[in-house]
Amino acid sequence: MAAALRIGFSPLASAPKGTIVALCDEGLRFGPATQQALGPVADTIARAAGTARFKGAAGSAIELLAPAGLAIDRLVVVGTGKSEGRTEADIVRLGGTALGKILGSAKDAVLFAETADGPLTANQAADLALGAQLRAYEFDRYKTKKKDGDEPRPDLRLTIAVGDVAAVRRAFARRDAVAGGVRLARDLVNEPPNVLFPAEFARRCLELKQLGVTVEVLDVKAMQKLGMNALLGVGQGSAHDSRLVVMRWNGGRKGTPPVSFIGKGVCFDTGGISIKPAAGMEDMKGDMAGAAAVTGLMHALASRKARVNAVGAIGVVENMPDGRAQRPGDIVTAMSGQTIEIINTDAEGRLVLADVLWYVVKRFKPQFMVNLATLTGAIIIALGHEHAGLFSNDDRLAERLTAAGLATGEKLWRLPLAKEYDKLIDSKFADVKNTGGRPAGSITAAQFLQRFVADNTPWAHLDIAGTGMGSPQTDINKSWGSGFGVRLLDRLVADHYEE
Ligand code: BES
Ligand code: MN
Ligand code: ZN
Repeated sequence: MAAALRIGFSPLASAPKGTIVALCDEGLRFGPATQQALGPVADTIARAAGTARFKGAAGSAIELLAPAGLAIDRLVVVGTGKSEGRTEADIVRLGGTALGKILGSAKDAVLFAETADGPLTANQAADLALGAQLRAYEFDRYKTKKKDGDEPRPDLRLTIAVGDVAAVRRAFARRDAVAGGVRLARDLVNEPPNVLFPAEFARRCLELKQLGVTVEVLDVKAMQKLGMNALLGVGQGSAHDSRLVVMRWNGGRKGTPPVSFIGKGVCFDTGGISIKPAAGMEDMKGDMAGAAAVTGLMHALASRKARVNAVGAIGVVENMPDGRAQRPGDIVTAMSGQTIEIINTDAEGRLVLADVLWYVVKRFKPQFMVNLATLTGAIIIALGHEHAGLFSNDDRLAERLTAAGLATGEKLWRLPLAKEYDKLIDSKFADVKNTGGRPAGSITAAQFLQRFVADNTPWAHLDIAGTGMGSPQTDINKSWGSGFGVRLLDRLVADHYEE
């Protein structure tokens, strides 16, 4: 079982016992309260650091056992690196590093939120706590056996010692709400595809009603009535019926047009009749990471009662080969009225999004639309697992998203849209075809989506194929499903769209 984490806050001055986590800079200096709490143990750091080659670099840590007779029994020293240029994302990561050293071994620990320059600000201390929360996530609900000799891993009570307890508690409350959204998104991505099929995904969305989110679930019949044949064509080979879930959080003023988020929710992508090779296909359970991020974001906005009107809409389907499945060569009419020639049934995400984008634009007339999708393997070739691809018809929205990415560490890199690419997806038989061949594969996918963005609505497409799942394990993410997008978009809303 995963070791659970409970976080509390106390004043820096209170006398600690048990495991102490201290921050230490590159001059091997502690903060004054830390120094005082450690007493004689503090003096051993320089010697221990010499033998352990600890230099206080960011991401590094050493562990010392305290001599008998002290209230402290274990000291974990975590390097903060240089203070110049230290960003918010660095502090969040520091919280993750610190937690990684103690979760599973300690029951009680005190983390001193101060450096040699003094106490961290309330926001910084809360960021440290957020990093610890994100790091503590583990998905092990399908593990029934412990490894031989494994001790049960104790739950951890982490007390973070801070300057102004009340201020840190306030700052942490909103971050804790966002961490809840990240956990939900990670859970959804990690769930196996036999458990999380479209109707089950929709059921989990309905749980957001408890937070005050309005949730509507449209079934196949309702979507047929709307003419969503692009989305429905993808799901028609599956034994699991497709769904469209619309989540609304109305925390803003009545009448203010909503911001909107749209997610690709392919619960499993076999490729359909254009079937994928077997190797690694199990990863395609994560092809709903865009929809998971949207759901996690709505959870976050509602739990922190964001003062914004927000719509989250996800197209949830399963892409299977079958006697009833869609064929290459089929032509479908999307809700917008445009006809689409299916060239490759594995380019299904854009078909799902085509109808959801159109539906959201026409029904809600949003201030902007941001869609998230594990859309193309090509984005992994271009950007690897460090940046998600960003495509936008609106420079201001693109700049705001990029800035939110730098602030949260969920980084984006913009790629071009240009009408010259459109000829790659012109079809011989229909208005558009669903693939443009290998050149510029991520761009032609984005060009395809853009054809379903109406009324000059500011729009951005985030291709998260490389970042939403199987992305690098970091000090704040040990999960396969990363939850990428939740913190990014929560930040976008908080910085620009709250009333
Ligand atoms: N879900 C995949 C994209 C993907 C690949 C996500 C790897 C995560 C990891 C998408 O539906 C897909 O199959 N795209 C094709 C498009 C092609 C047929 C034009 C691709 O990228 O190969
Ligand atoms: Mn596919
Ligand atoms: Zn897919």
